[in-house]
Amino acid sequence: INEKGLKIPLDNSPLQIFVKAKKKINDIFGEIEEYVKDTVEYMHEIEKDENIVNGDQVKETKEFVGKVHSIRDVLCRDHMKVAFFGRTSNGKSTVINAMLRDKILPSGIGHTTNCFLQVEGANTEEPYVVLEGSDDRCAIESVGQLAHALCKEKLSESSLVKIFWPKSRCGLLRDDVVFVDSPGVDVTPNLDEWIDKHCLDADVFVLVANAESTLMVTEKNFFHKVSTKLSKPNIFILNNRWDASASEPEFFDQVRKQHQERALDFLVKELKVCTQKEADERIFFTSAKEVLQTRMHDTKNTPLPVTDGFQTRLFEFQDFEKKFEECISISAVKTKFEQHSQRGKFIANQLRDILEGIYNDSLRLKEEKLKQRKELTDKINYTEQQLMIITQEMKKKIHNMVEDVEHRVSKALNE
Ligand code: GTP
Ligand code: MG
Repeated sequence: INEKGLKIPLDNSPLQIFVKAKKKINDIFGEIEEYVKDTVEYMHEIEKDENIVNGDQVKETKEFVGKVHSIRDVLCRDHMKVAFFGRTSNGKSTVINAMLRDKILPSGIGHTTNCFLQVEGANTEEPYVVLEGSDDRCAIESVGQLAHALCKEKLSESSLVKIFWPKSRCGLLRDDVVFVDSPGVDVTPNLDEWIDKHCLDADVFVLVANAESTLMVTEKNFFHKVSTKLSKPNIFILNNRWDASASEPEFFDQVRKQHQERALDFLVKELKVCTQKEADERIFFTSAKEVLQTRMHDTKNTPLPVTDGFQTRLFEFQDFEKKFEECISISAVKTKFEQHSQRGKFIANQLRDILEGIYNDSLRLKEEKLKQRKELTDKINYTEQQLMIITQEMKKKIHNMVEDVEHRVSKALNE
């Protein structure tokens, strides 16, 4: 925790698994990009010699430049996404605010979330909002102003408003966690559209349930739909508003046990998304309101919660955050980077094959030329030899002829 009361992630924070993996895969793709560019340059140099590279090889290599570039683009934008669902007023917006340690999202009476709100980190000093279908940045000064702006816009409930919050004010946002708040699952018939639009790339889902009642059919149905579209989604269940249990301590254990069993059955037997042991680490009893109050006390010196047992509930919320960080980090590395690393390997292998092909072709060409040269030398040597023999013979013949002529001339002279 720094002097402003903000949580600074330690190097061993579970979120660092994702942060480090992201840096590493970005570095690797940076190297691949250099490698591809070098290859294209080299091919252009030797392209004139058609016997060594052919047009197809050059074209294929050039295409890799674009592919690697677009993968790098996606990689820079990759983040860990957590989406919160549950019935109206269970405390979804409050849970997010508690995790972000500030009143960022409007919550409470008159501030019902009426569209999807995404909070993500920005490298700016001041927060701003971007509405769906627009690139305009609207400055926001306060939560009240944001809530007012959202009401005024008459947005459809499945539209998305992005809230960019300075990374310097929150460790989770700096580490690339993106939060998605939703309207209550009980207020819409468009659950399919919601899932298609906002859930398919979520790494973790948090069902914010109400510990004062029980898991509702609408909440269950929503997650049944999610788990038909995603294989084994990571779902946490927060039995929120658990501070209410303080007023009825005589039923505390019994109520907790009942909620725990129902939530466990839902995850393990109904949705079949995890084992009994895993589910034990996915169900928590919290009071988001108290956690937010405590954290606001740390930074803004507002009053602390007073309800009995708030420390225990605070610890349970912290435990949830720890398990959540581990889960989202590991899951996001898998879902976001596995495919890219396969494609990176594929591109590197293809390039190696092309270059090896070129190397082998040029070796073959070299051998052929050497062979041709040897044949030519052999021919020259043979011709030279033949010439020598012929010359010798001619010399001999001429010599004989001259002798013969001399002989005959002198004989004729004598006669
Ligand atoms: P919608 O956006 O309307 O769907 O509601 P929501 O789920 O976002 O709930 P929100 O965070 O707006 O909370 C509704 C009210 O419940 C607010 O007044 C909160 O202060 C209060 N609240 C949230 N969490 C808790 C909690 O753990 N305990 C208690 N007592 N009140 C809570
Ligand atoms: Mg809300």
